[in-house]
Amino acid sequence: MSFLEEIQKRRTFGIISHPDAGKTTLTEKLLLFGGAIQEAGAVKNNKIKKGATSDFMEIERQRGISVATSVLAFIYKDKKINILDTPGHKDFAEDTFRTLTAVDSVIVVIDVAKGVEEQTEKLVEVCRMRKIPMIVFINKLDREGKDAFDLLDEVEQKLGLKVTPLSFPIGMGYDFKGIYNIWEKKLNIFSGDNKQTISEGVEFDDIDNPELDKIVGENSANTLREELELVNEVYPDFDQEAYVNGDLQPVFFGSALNNFGVKELLDCFIDIAPNPQPKQAEERLVDSKEEKLTGFVFKIHANMDPKHRDRLAFVKIVSGTFKRNTPYLHVRNGKKVKFSSPNAFFAEKKEIVEESFPGDIVGLHDTGNFKIGDTLTEGEQLNFKGIPSFSPEHFRYVNNADPMKAKQLYKGLDQLMDEGVAQLFTLDMNGRRIIGTVGALQYEVIQYRLEHEYGAKCSYENIAVHKACWVEPEDPKNEEFKEFKRVKQRYLAKDKQGQLVFLADSPFTIQMTQSKYPTVKLHFTSEF
Ligand code: G4P
Repeated sequence: MSFLEEIQKRRTFGIISHPDAGKTTLTEKLLLFGGAIQEAGAVKNNKIKKGATSDFMEIERQRGISVATSVLAFIYKDKKINILDTPGHKDFAEDTFRTLTAVDSVIVVIDVAKGVEEQTEKLVEVCRMRKIPMIVFINKLDREGKDAFDLLDEVEQKLGLKVTPLSFPIGMGYDFKGIYNIWEKKLNIFSGDNKQTISEGVEFDDIDNPELDKIVGENSANTLREELELVNEVYPDFDQEAYVNGDLQPVFFGSALNNFGVKELLDCFIDIAPNPQPKQAEERLVDSKEEKLTGFVFKIHANMDPKHRDRLAFVKIVSGTFKRNTPYLHVRNGKKVKFSSPNAFFAEKKEIVEESFPGDIVGLHDTGNFKIGDTLTEGEQLNFKGIPSFSPEHFRYVNNADPMKAKQLYKGLDQLMDEGVAQLFTLDMNGRRIIGTVGALQYEVIQYRLEHEYGAKCSYENIAVHKACWVEPEDPKNEEFKEFKRVKQRYLAKDKQGQLVFLADSPFTIQMTQSKYPTVKLHFTSEF
């Protein structure tokens, strides 16, 4: 197979949703279609159940599982499909944001009864800003839920999307009869007793065909006709280019649990979802068809086994062919490195591979050389743009609780921050370290991992910080900036990249500071 064909057959995407909408179930059904697993239940649920916040073993178990399911790959109709796992739990939202830098498209799962939920809004906003092509899957049609048109409205309004349904449900809940596949003009009738089989659809060129009445009953057939007419009038036709540019989002309906509407989704997905896309580096745009290897680290995972403290760095191949035992330039530290056992992922297994192509993810064993965002090339000085850091929501001082283990603590903190578990700020005034996180859960994860992986102990102390604001002075030499630094001295810190950060204790402080020092700009993300 030529290099170009390898690129064209790849589809690398992520599934995003609010917890419980059905992401895991859908993933599993997709794997079933790909023949990657034989039975339902094989994909472990990769989410932290409610109330397990303080259960460290649970956290550990989750971490172990999430290594295995970080990338799920399978072949379907000659296409190589890579699903990148995105944690739904809000405390791990940063993880998901970073994974979104490595996908070429996204499927958004929405619960038909709950509609658009908070976490979906946040994640879709990031996708929208990055113009990632999205397909929406409205799930759980076997239950009573919102009216299909109301839901489409909600998706447009709350998520700021422009939708076009490519399938439409016939009934819902108790009356759920099936799916009309607008994309392929096919009817698929639900047989509730046969949940794991894939029923073949009946084809209809003409929705007015009286056969339809026989199959679903006259009432349902007429309702469907009316609804499809409305769909036709209200929503734009599907347009491939608009979808790939992130300007139009096709919508499918179904029930992942009952394996209904999933094949429609997958068949359409492999037709329309983009193959590996060009990626913007600070220096230039890199095309996937370029022959020289480029790639970047979007995720780092610590080894589960505390005796082997190596980590797995997940690299998305952007261009060229990644080869085993071939030296590549680690751009940030300027060193050539080669990898004797790069891992590829298949179904829920990982194995050593000789070659990987654009769109693929390789897992590289690392002893602490990689950070999230690092770029690999064949020699070119290139830095792929990642996702900026966002201001954390929680802040605590971290103290060393075992004076004999200071070195271990700092090394551990350093490596955990490189993995992107949390953000570290160092106060200018006294060098004290502050950990900022998206959710309270991370503090427990950090404490647990410091102890079990690095043999260090830490304690936390509260600090009244509302937001971390990255500081951008219009003129670093002007009097105003000097005064700002003098007056705010106690609240100034450096992030891990050495960027100046103002730790504001309230929204009011931010407002006051901005109006008092108008030439000193405050930002809630690290890139501006
Ligand atoms: P998540 O990964 O997005 O968090 O969701 P997950 O797939 O775990 O699904 C959440 C719950 O919703 C599960 O039930 C799952 O069985 C159910 N579910 C998924 N798809 C459908 C569907 O199409 N129809 C219906 N009725 N339910 C669906 P659970 O009871 O929380 O978990 P489990 O004990 O069944 O695993």
